[in-house]
Amino acid sequence: MRIEQGWQPSEIERLVDIENATASRLIFTDETLFRLELQRIFARTWLYIGHESEIPKNGDYVTRKMGNDPVILVRDQAGRVRVLLNSCTHRATLVCRADAGNARGFTCPYHGWVFASDGALVATAEDETYGGKVNFRSLDLPQARVGSYAGLVFATWNHDAPPLDEHLGDARWYLDIMFGHTPKGMTVLGLPHRWSPTNNWKLGPMNFAADGPHAVKVHGPIVDATLVGGNGARAMIHKALLESPSVTAGPYNGIWTQGPAEMPEWMGHEPELVELYRKTLKPAQFNLFRRCIASVGTVFPNFSWVYGPVSFDMRTDPLVNFFAIRVWQPVSAGRTEIWNWFLIEEEASEEVKQRAMRAGVRTFTAGGTFDQDDAEAWHSIQRGCEGEISCTQDVNFQVALNYRDRPIADWAGPGVAYPSNYCEVTEFNNLVQWRAYMTGAR
Ligand code: FES
Ligand SMILES: [Fe+2]
Repeated sequence: MRIEQGWQPSEIERLVDIENATASRLIFTDETLFRLELQRIFARTWLYIGHESEIPKNGDYVTRKMGNDPVILVRDQAGRVRVLLNSCTHRATLVCRADAGNARGFTCPYHGWVFASDGALVATAEDETYGGKVNFRSLDLPQARVGSYAGLVFATWNHDAPPLDEHLGDARWYLDIMFGHTPKGMTVLGLPHRWSPTNNWKLGPMNFAADGPHAVKVHGPIVDATLVGGNGARAMIHKALLESPSVTAGPYNGIWTQGPAEMPEWMGHEPELVELYRKTLKPAQFNLFRRCIASVGTVFPNFSWVYGPVSFDMRTDPLVNFFAIRVWQPVSAGRTEIWNWFLIEEEASEEVKQRAMRAGVRTFTAGGTFDQDDAEAWHSIQRGCEGEISCTQDVNFQVALNYRDRPIADWAGPGVAYPSNYCEVTEFNNLVQWRAYMTGAR
């Protein structure tokens, strides 16, 4: 049974004004809209759950969330990846309390029901007390549909949703560049970092979809002070952002910031790895990657990545690339839980794996320089949306009016690309997708 909340589709439509490229601030603060998001987005579309390298052996599992539902991502005893609802079919207790581990199955701590790693109920504490009246098969743990692309495991509760490949569509071409650029693919480094900022969950995916204009403003001081280069770095990055492509392709929106022509190619990459990229990627993918100094993107609704070369002191600390993926978990209208992982090519050297992890931790985690900048901005957006007067106002993406009708004509990849990371088209597209799910148009 499900209780529908009191928003009409026509009212939700008006919250995101596509023609004017604006949106109501209520989308960040209204708790009834938040409950609708859980139903209409998180219970209906494909959600990122984890990476295959986190559960390499049969019986390996990690516990995750799909919207506000706890789930177990497990490789069962037959090697099949499954996503099980982490809620006992007896009296709803979490059957698995650990963050990660290896087990043949899960024993509920309340009355001892035992579920195999494929979700099947294999024993109750007192089978004979049921007197043969209960079909135990109907009490297996519910399972989500599971799909995997480039090592990224997604799941959905919607049995009518298109297959994952079809859902990702043109986004796959860009996911290949980030997560499928060597034959063995990526591997996750360590455990996820988790923290819980005081802002709506959509602010992260929008920013990563991507908000080019904030980069030199919010992050400018750290760029000047420590990162990649001192004097002139901020101006170089501003020019690069201004002139680099933003892309929308299926559920993906993001930017591919290109370094200046005089900059060396493949900064921070091991030459042996570059040869593997050349063999693995298509030429157009290889070319987009070769001078990329930042790729930031979101796959709707709440999966994002950030990639780029980092050095904190070019004299002593050579540039290294880090890859981070993150999930923006909805907690309430005004609170999010961020899960963040670092990845690296399986074929990378141990030394590069260590340095990439360090570079990532210093930039994109709760204590990372970039995340601290962003968290402060997003917290203040939330405060700027909550008042009686401020909640009646809009948020503005009207740079998009200048760019949305003039995409790059000869773009070499799928989807549509625009000629600037400042275009705001892709960031706003994230909200256009939100509107489609929330009104039932998809
Ligand atoms: S709630 Fe799980 S065994 Fe009773
Ligand atoms: Fe940022």
